[in-house]
Parts: sequence; C-alpha cells; structure tokens
Amino acid sequence: MSQASIQSVSRESRIFAPQDEFARQARVSSREGYEELYRRSVDDPDAFWLEIATEDFHWFKKPTQGLDWSNPPHAKWFADGTTNLAYNCLDRHLVGSHRNKAAIIFEGEPGDVRVLTYQQLHREVCRFANVLGKLGVKQGDCVAIYMGMVPEAAIAMLACARIGAIHTVIFGGFAAEAVRDRVNDAKAKLIVTQDGAWRRGNLVPLKENVDRAMRETPGVKHTIVLKRTGNEVAMDRGRDLWWHEMVETVSAQHRAAELPAEHPLFILYTSGTTGKPKGVLHTTGGYMVGAATTSKFVFDLREDDTYWCTADVGWVTGHSYIAYGPLANGATCLMYEGAPNHPDPGRFWSIIERHGVTILYTAPTAIRAFVKWGDQYPMKHDLSSLRLLGTVGEPINPEAWMWYRRVIGNERCPIVDTWWQTETGAMMMTPLPGAISTKPGSCTVPFFGVVPKVLREDGTEAGPNEGGLLVIEKPWPSMMRTVYGDDQRFKDTYWSRFEGKYFTGDGARKDEDGFFWVMGRVDDVVNVAGHRLGTAEVESALVAHKSVAEAAVVGRPDELKGQGLVAFVTLKQGEAPTKALKAALLEHVAQEIGKFARPDEIRFTDGLPKTRSGKIMRRLLKELASGNEVKGDMTTLEDFSVLAKLRADEE
Ligand code: PRX
Repeated sequence: MSQASIQSVSRESRIFAPQDEFARQARVSSREGYEELYRRSVDDPDAFWLEIATEDFHWFKKPTQGLDWSNPPHAKWFADGTTNLAYNCLDRHLVGSHRNKAAIIFEGEPGDVRVLTYQQLHREVCRFANVLGKLGVKQGDCVAIYMGMVPEAAIAMLACARIGAIHTVIFGGFAAEAVRDRVNDAKAKLIVTQDGAWRRGNLVPLKENVDRAMRETPGVKHTIVLKRTGNEVAMDRGRDLWWHEMVETVSAQHRAAELPAEHPLFILYTSGTTGKPKGVLHTTGGYMVGAATTSKFVFDLREDDTYWCTADVGWVTGHSYIAYGPLANGATCLMYEGAPNHPDPGRFWSIIERHGVTILYTAPTAIRAFVKWGDQYPMKHDLSSLRLLGTVGEPINPEAWMWYRRVIGNERCPIVDTWWQTETGAMMMTPLPGAISTKPGSCTVPFFGVVPKVLREDGTEAGPNEGGLLVIEKPWPSMMRTVYGDDQRFKDTYWSRFEGKYFTGDGARKDEDGFFWVMGRVDDVVNVAGHRLGTAEVESALVAHKSVAEAAVVGRPDELKGQGLVAFVTLKQGEAPTKALKAALLEHVAQEIGKFARPDEIRFTDGLPKTRSGKIMRRLLKELASGNEVKGDMTTLEDFSVLAKLRADEE
C-alpha cells in the first residue's frame, strides 16, 4: 500500500428523509434530537452510559462507574456492578400481562409453529440451567452449542448466561473439523447439539458431526442432544444425554447467578483472511447495555412489534439481535429454522404475511438472492404489516437497497443499514429510523458513544469523500475484551495500526454530510494503474446493470497496471451469458465509474463462493483469478461445489 488513501468512485446521491408518520412516533424523531443525544454520549460517555445502564436494566448491585480505561486496550465497563443477562431478558418481564406475551415465535422448516411466552421461555431456561448445574458445569466453564435454528439454541445460550457459564455457539453449517478446533480452543466441557437439523428439505447430521469431532476433543465430558428431526443417532451411554430426558429430572426454579459486569459471557469465533479463527470474547454488562440499547433505538422497538432477524444464532447478529438485544427489551421475536427458498423462493414473504412481521432484519446477500429470484414471489404476499427494514453484514449495493425499499418496503418503510462487527458486539453506525435521512449504500452516522474516523496511512484524517481506513477512537460498552487465549493477537490485530485507536480492518469514506460509506475490508482494495479502488464499488456498478444479480470483483497481478480486475458475475434468472452482454457490462462500468475501472476479464458463473454467513470469499476468487492453487482456511466455505465449478469453467 504505497498511497495514502483509497479512491472512492461511488456517485450515489439519492437521499430519503424519514417519513413524518414514522418520525412522529419514533423515540428520536429529528436530526437535532439525535445530535443532542450523540453529543452528550461522546462528551461524557461515562455519565451517558451509566444512566442508561442503571435506568434500563436490572442490577443486583448497581454500578457507580462507567468506563475504566486504566489499562488500554482492555476496557472495563460498569465494573463494580453485578447483574445477570438472562435475568434481564426473562425474569424482569414476568410481571403483569407481559408474562404471557410471546417471546419467541418459532417456525420450523417443515412448517411446524411453536410459541414460547416469556413465562414459558423462563421456565425452559431455568430447567436447562439446572441440567447444566447437575452435570457439573460451573461459573466460568465453557459450553459449546452446535445447533440449528431452534428455540432450544436460545434456551441453551440463556441458560449458560444464567449460571455464568461461557457459551461458544458454533454455526450448525460447520463440519466436524471446525467444531473440533473451536471446542478445543474454547476448552468447552460440554456440547449441546441436536440429532439433526432441517435445511432446504435435507437433514443436517449435527450429532454425527459431533461424534466425529469428539474423537479429538478430550476436554468434553458430555453432550446433550435435542431431538428435532427424529433420525437415528448413536448415543454413547453415560456420555450422550437426551435433552428431553434431562429436563424431566430437574426443577423449573432457578436463581440467576449474581455476576460481576465483566464476567465473560461468550466466545464467538470469527475468521480473518489469514490464520486460525479468532475467539472474540465478550463480557456481561457492557455487552448487555450495547445490544439492548441499539435494539431499542435502531429498531425503535414497540410493545406490539413482531420482530424478525433472519440471521443464524451461530453468528454475532443472532447473538445480539435474535437473542439478547430484543429479549432484553421484552420484544416478540420470530425465529425461522430453514432456508429462504424452501419449499419455494416465497417462504420469507409468506412468513411475514402469516405472522404479521413488522420489522425485518436481513443481509445484503439474501436481498440479492431475492432480486435474482424475481419480484413475483414477494408480490404474491401481503407485506403491509412491515414498518421497518434493516440490513447487516456487507456493504449493500445501492440497487439492491432500492429494490428492498421499493418491493419489500413499498417505498414506505425506512431502511436501517447497520455497520458493525463480531468484535464490536453491537451496531456502531446506523441511521436512527425516525431521525436520520438515508442514502442507499451508506450506513449513515455513528450510534451513541461511537467515534469513527477515516484515516490515511500516516494517521492523519482523510478529507470529505476521501477513502481511508476506518478506526474507532473511543471505547464503547459492547467492545470485545480480548481474543480468547491470545491477548497478543488482540493487541496486534486491532490496536497496533494506530496508537490508542481500534482498527476495524475496513475501508471507508465520510461524505460532505458526515455520512459514512463502508467500502469493505481493506484486504479487498486493489491498485489499478495507480488508482486504489475498493472492489465493492466496482461490484456495485455491475449490480446496477439490469441483467446482473451479483458480482464479485478481485485483483490479479498485471505487469502493466500493477493490478488488473477480474469480475465474477451471476445473472438474473432468464438472462443469457453472451459475449455481447460482457461488452455491455464493460461499457456500463466505464460509464458508471470510468474506463480505468473496467474489469480485464468477466467470468459468468451460476454461483459465488460464500462463507456460511453469506459473505463472498474474495480470497478464493483472488487465488483463482491469479491462476494459483486455492489454499488456506476453507472451513467457512458454504458450498464446495461452487468452487469446483468455477475451477472447471476455467479449463
Ligand atoms: O466489513 C464489514 C462488514 O462485515 C464485517 C464484520 O463481519 P462480522 O464480524 O461477520 O459481523 C457481521 C455482522 C455484524 C465488517 O467489518 N459489514 C457488516 N455490516 C456492514 C458491513 N459492511 C458495510 N455495511 C454494513 N452495514
């Protein structure tokens, strides 16, 4: 990286003000209202967060201090307080009629529906907490949860939080090796799993994978197996225990443990471009305040909302915005087990219609798939219950954003594009839906207490619209505390690039209105003939073409230009991959961005290699594009056949 900054070529200029009707009833209903709260939050973060923490949450012992930053980069928040996150999500909602409010509305992929009220959820969590206790799980012990999207995954998480055990949720799509590595790294003593899970009509053999993983996980004493699919599984007597049998042996009464605010809550593994996955450690009090406060303000949660986050509990979005954030607010959360296109691509819209979903929080990768499948599916359903839409996980291409707004939101629902990371625990930059105008593709402005800056390589601040490196200047309550078992890696990865500042690894620019535009990971920056470009912007230009569903652009060495661009493109249903279309796409990029950004090669493909959370694995494409062997960590790749096919196309 020789040059100071990253050239941003995005020219998006559309802007949408919050609608009066929405703003009138919103918690924060004007830009001025936001500015005032934001200013307080950064001028005196201690007082600001302490007030929220003590007023909005239950503490056994109320904290008297906010931030302790005496040992950077290790923050402590509310350190002299004691609390319990499960208590905050459950027990305090058991008063009055709220106890019979739906906490979780579950829809299984085969179509079964189950509703758990706050009272019922509390009961199940207490029972499972007692099961864990009976099996010798103690405060500070780690429990691995390798499950599908069923309420019991949330029950297991909450039960751990209740007794002060640390959970590490391992996404149900991971293979045995990935399970083994995470279980061993986190030193888990127990694994909670299922006989199987449903995915696109197929059975995912979770227990079988655990059995394979457990050939090399000496620290694990027991598994608890939920019966979900009813398929035959091997049960090792004494070691493997059925969930339904175990909960019968214990009481439904359980006193939540009184835990210090800095008690570890969970470890969640996140992969970087290199090296083994990092175990991101979050603790109790700060995480609780961050996840719940963002849920309250960003989704503008109301008593009668039916809120649906489509993420998997195996990702941080599922932790913060299926389980902890919404439940701490006493919200009704929908949880869906299966694939968006089972039995047909209209499943999501059918769910929204049948359950009267009011808030939908999903990912750009899903939105692009919906665009590809066609408008006829959402058009078939009544989506008028929706009042707010959200996205997370990647930069969203303006065209996908516009589609989301028009086809799903009927030009009526605000869209909150929320930027954050596993490491940040909670949303960091996002519009407040009643207060902040939105621009397609921008995550807009920082949330309370968050001070983001775009820096040049030399640490000076980039000017308006100048692309650079995104850092966060001040500590915030839900920040990660360390990389579990490797504090040096925590310091090296996040805190060494710029003294005293948290480096996000993302490139971004701030526009003339102070809005932020995240351009993707800086590892995805290419240098073409002296232009340092974020590949996400070239992708965005390609996706803006009417024939294109999705695009991934990567650099490859080029003698002349330093780097050249290769674009992998999937087309919308019914579009033919012709030479003429290739030429049209090149011309289109030239028009949208400039000739220098025209890809040197366009490859049409049916699918792109993605991580299981839906992010395009550009590293693999980079290796393919450069004609190199594809190597490195591939445990996060969702569908290996996509890679095989891309290789075959090459020959
Ligand atoms: O590059 C950013 C991108 O996803 C990264 C964080 O990924 P992960 O830890 O898996 O967490 C995903 C769920 C929070 C970020 O560094 N990212 C996430 N949200 C956005 C985004 N990029 C642009 N816009 C977003 N809204």
